[in-house]
Parts: sequence; structure tokens; C-alpha cells
Amino acid sequence: MNPTGSQRLREWILRANYDGRYTFWSNLLPSIDSESWFWSRYEELFSTVSDRKQQHIHRLFTAAIQFHLDRERETPLACNFPGVRLAYDGVAVTPQVSAFLDFCARRWQSIENIVHTREVQINKLGRNAVMLPLLCEAQSRAGDSALFVEVGSSVGLSLLWPWLTARYSTGSRIDGCFSEGRVVCDCRIAGNPTLPLSGIGPKPVRLVGIEIDSLSADNEDDVAWLLALVAPNDDFGRSELERGLELLSRHRPEILAGCVLDRIGDVIAAMPANQPLIVYHCMTLHHLIEAGKLAAWRRLLRHVAHSRPVIEAYVAWEEGSPSATLWPVEVRIREWHRSGQDSELVGWTDPSADGTLLRFREERP
Ligand SMILES: C[S@@+](CC[C@H](N)C(=O)[O-])C[C@H]1O[C@@H](n2cnc3c(N)ncnc32)[C@H](O)[C@@H]1O
Repeated sequence: MNPTGSQRLREWILRANYDGRYTFWSNLLPSIDSESWFWSRYEELFSTVSDRKQQHIHRLFTAAIQFHLDRERETPLACNFPGVRLAYDGVAVTPQVSAFLDFCARRWQSIENIVHTREVQINKLGRNAVMLPLLCEAQSRAGDSALFVEVGSSVGLSLLWPWLTARYSTGSRIDGCFSEGRVVCDCRIAGNPTLPLSGIGPKPVRLVGIEIDSLSADNEDDVAWLLALVAPNDDFGRSELERGLELLSRHRPEILAGCVLDRIGDVIAAMPANQPLIVYHCMTLHHLIEAGKLAAWRRLLRHVAHSRPVIEAYVAWEEGSPSATLWPVEVRIREWHRSGQDSELVGWTDPSADGTLLRFREERP
């Protein structure tokens, strides 16, 4: 028998809480009575969303509640929110749980609306530290005049690498071409590095993002949604997002609205003949897989590779099992040719792809 929505929610929380970032939820859920209206309404919601959305409803649902808690910090019920966490240290559980349920009941319609209309668009500044060595490598293979396109930019944090410095635990660093060394992302290195981890990052002729569900760092609701998507106990993630949003307000990278399959043609049409294309993405591949767009995406890259060098660099869950597991998150470079593609597994990054770890493959004996 397939697990119910609430069983899936509970299982996901346990998995996602591998480092304590979902402690709030992992403490709360077991104490909500299994007969509670909360579960029956959640099942109802679960059954009304598409199969694609069912893959992510746990994130959308927890973030929708967080969205309200963040917005209403001054109200007495929301003030109970931190109290719920504390209560699970052993005392006075019931009043806070009931306050929490009451809080949700009063906002249920809006929570449902958020689940139906929003998407999981988590955007992490640290991913730039994982991408920078890949982009350097891609440029050294493709040549200096490459166009860089990011697929699935969300609000745009992974377009900020020219303005920041990635500092690695090997003692080396890659400085973005416009970095003044003030915005630093730290990344631990494990395994045997197979890519250079020092130097100056690429200077793109043009750098453009493509995003199907546009978000803006200037839009209060969009920013509130991105903050709500941060796991409740992930203080590091929240401060990184705030740091990235501040950087976006200064640099405003170019982002085109629309599906990559519809928009990339215009971008390529504006490129000089033979100009290499470096296309990259972080945690976007599962969106293409779930929307049934993977085959079209690959056909498109193969087609473009007839007229110019195409290199794809990406961070993604192991293909074929999107969102099924938190680990591994693969880091890959793929060179597209007329006849096909050569794909290279460079290594892995941390389970949440925060960008705080790049684990290279061990050297073959
Ligand atoms: C999980 S977010 C990752 C954001 C960013 N790349 C990062 O690593 O922080 C994936 C993004 O891909 C976008 N996306 C999904 N399908 C897309 C498509 N067909 N074309 C363009 N963007 C897409 C989603 O809306 C979402 O904002």
C-alpha cells in the first residue's frame, strides 16, 4: 500500500533533519494526535495537488506555515512559536502544540493557497563555491569568449559568482573576476581534488539566468517566501540568504523569465557564430525530469553542439531519483558533441547542497 501524505511528511522530516535543521518539525509532529483535524486536512490537501507537487508538498506545506509565522511574529500565537521548540526540551508540551494547531487552523486557507500557487525555489549563495571550479574548468575547455547561461536561477544567487570569492579548506581560493574579496563563501574539500581550486574565475562575455517562475529580490512577498523555505532551525541558511539578497540588490544579474526550452533559443540566436556556450544549473535538473522536459532539454543541447562547443556543468540529485534521497548530490561536467555527450562525475556536495562541501572522487588505484 502506498504511504499516505502524512506518512510521507513524517518520513521526510526525519530524513531532512539529519543535521538538526528540521528539529522544530521533528519534535512537533509526533505530538500532534493522529486523530487530529490537522492530519485529515493535510491528507485532503495532499490528494488535491498534482503528482508532481506531491513530491514536494512537505517542503511547500512547512514553508507555508513558516511564511505565516515569520509574517506575524508580533502576534501572541506566533510568539508561541519559539516556545514550541523549547517546550520539547521536556516540559509543558500540550499548550504550545494546541496553540500551534490553532494558529494553523486560522490560516489554513491561506496555507493551502500557498501550496497550490508557490514552488520550491530554494536558492543558496554557497552553491557558487561548488560551481566556481566547474565553471573555471568549463571555460578552460571551451575558450575565453563563452556565454554563460544558468538554468533555474530562482532569485539569482547562483549568478553572483563573478562578485565573490570561494575559499577552500585546502588553503586556496578562487576569486570571482569582479570580487573584491569581501564576500567569501567557505567550502570544505574532501577526496582528491581533480579540478584547480585557485586562481581568478571566468570573466563572462555575457552571463544570463533563465527562470520559469520569476522571483525578485525587490518583491517583499518573494523574499518572504524564500526566507520561509529555509529550514526552521537552519540559522546559517537564513543568514546566507540575507547576505545573498543584499548582494543582488547591488549587482542585479540578468534573468530572463520563462521555461529554458522556450527562452534559450533567443539567447543563442543573439550569440556570434561559434561562440561557446557554458550552461550550468544547481538543483534544477529534477524540475526538468518531473516536468517531463529532460529529453527535450538534451535534444536541444545536442542540436546546439552542431554549431558551437557546449559544456554543461551542474549540481543535481542522482539522475532518475529526484528528491527520493538527500544524498548523493552529484557534481558533474558534461561536454556535448554532435553525436552525443561525455559526462564526467566530478564528485558530490553536501546533502542540502548548501555549497559547504565539495567531495571529489577518490583517485582510481
Ligand atoms: C531549487 S531551485 C534552485 C535555484 C538555484 N539554481 C540554486 O542553486 O540556488 C530550481 C529553480 O529552477 C526553476 N525551474 C524549474 N523548471 C524550469 C525550467 N523549465 N526553466 C527554467 N527554470 C526552471 C524553478 O522555478 C526553481 O526556481
